Amino acid sequence: MNNPEPAQQIQLLRDGYWDRTSIIKLADNSKRVRKISKGSDSAGPWGIQNLRAEALYLANLEPNLQDFFPPLLDHWDGTTTGYDMGFMANYIDVGQIAKQQLFSQQQADAMQVYLAKRLFNELHTPSSAPAVLSNNIKETFTQALEYLQTHTELSILLPAININGLPVAALEQQLNKLFSSNILDKLDQGPQVRLHGDLFLENMLLPAADPGQNWPEHLILIDPISVAGVSTGHPLFDLGKYESYANGELSAMRGEYLILQGFTDPYQINQQHQFQWAIDWHAAAMAGIKNIDWQHQLRAEYIRHYGSVDSALYELLQAYFGAAMVICTDGREQQGRALKMRTSLELCLA
Ligand SMILES: Nc1ncnc2c1ncn2[C@@H]1O[C@H](COP(=O)(O)OP(=O)(O)O)[C@@H](O)[C@H]1O
Ligand SMILES: [Mg+2]
Repeated sequence: MNNPEPAQQIQLLRDGYWDRTSIIKLADNSKRVRKISKGSDSAGPWGIQNLRAEALYLANLEPNLQDFFPPLLDHWDGTTTGYDMGFMANYIDVGQIAKQQLFSQQQADAMQVYLAKRLFNELHTPSSAPAVLSNNIKETFTQALEYLQTHTELSILLPAININGLPVAALEQQLNKLFSSNILDKLDQGPQVRLHGDLFLENMLLPAADPGQNWPEHLILIDPISVAGVSTGHPLFDLGKYESYANGELSAMRGEYLILQGFTDPYQINQQHQFQWAIDWHAAAMAGIKNIDWQHQLRAEYIRHYGSVDSALYELLQAYFGAAMVICTDGREQQGRALKMRTSLELCLA
C-alpha cells in the first residue's frame, strides 16, 4: 500500500530523532500505533530506510516470535513512510517500570531470565547475511571524528586528554590504531545472528499493573534495528546496548542526569585537557536503576549461552553507540556521549 488508512491521532507517544510514534483511531473506532518517518526533518543521517527495515523485520518474524512483538498491521511507502502495529493498551515501557520502581528485584530478575530465553534461543537465529558491522563502525567513527573536527566546543576533545583520571590518546590516533588492528575482524568473524538491534529498557513493554500471574513474562519488544540500520551481527551487540542503559549510563545521558566537568560556559579552551563525567545518582529519576539490578541476570544468561564476554569487543561497541549518538544529540547529552566514546575507545585498545 502506498498511503496509510486515514486516521485521527489521539495521543503522541514519542517525537523521536527520526520518526513520530502516536496512538491513532481509525474510522471504525479501532486503535493502533502508527510510526511515521520525519523524512528530511529528522536529526542525523538515518530515517526513512530504517523505518522501512523496521516494518520488514516485523513482517518477517517467524510464527513462534509473533507474540514477542506487537502485530504488524500495515506498512506503506508513499507520501510518507511508516507502519501501523497493534496498540498494547495498558502497557508501559520497562524504562518506566524501572523508574517508577514497580518491580521487586525478584521480578526484575525474572524479566531478565525470560528476555534471555526468548532473545538467545528464538530471536538470535544464525544469519547468513554478509557481516556489515565492522564497516558500519568504521564509517560511524569517521563521521564522529569529522563532526568533532568542525564543532567549536567539542573539538577540545580531539587531542590527547584525560577523562576521569584515564589518559586517553588523540582521537585520530585511536582510530588509526583501531583500523589497523584485528579487533574489527573479530566482530565480523564471530557468529552472526539476527539481532534486536536497539535493545534497551525503553524499547520493551510490560503491563503497567500486575496482570495476575507472571507479570515479567508478559514482555513485548518494540522498535527493532539500530540507529545505523544494523539488524544482524555479533550477539554481544544486543547485550552491550541493553547494559549501557541498564547500568544507568544511557538512562542518565538521555535524561541529562550527568555531572560534567571540563566544559565551560561561556566556552573556553580547557588548558589542562582534564574532563570528568559521572552519572548523577542523586537524581530522583535514577533511583529505580540504582535500587534494582537490571543487568546481571541477563549477562549471566548471555555467558551461559555464548561464553565469556570479550572486553575489547564490548568496549568497542560501547564506543560505537556513543559515536553514533554524538552526531545526532546536543548539549550535555552530547558531551556525555563524546566522553563515553573517547573512554571506551581507549579501553578497547588498551
Ligand atoms: N505498540 C505499542 N503499544 C503501546 N505503546 C507503544 C507501542 N509502540 C510504542 N509504544 C510507546 O511509544 C514509545 C516510542 O515507540 P518506539 O517504537 O520505541 O519509537 P522510537 O523509534 O521513537 O524510539 C515506546 O517507548 C512506548 O512507550
Ligand atoms: Mg524506542
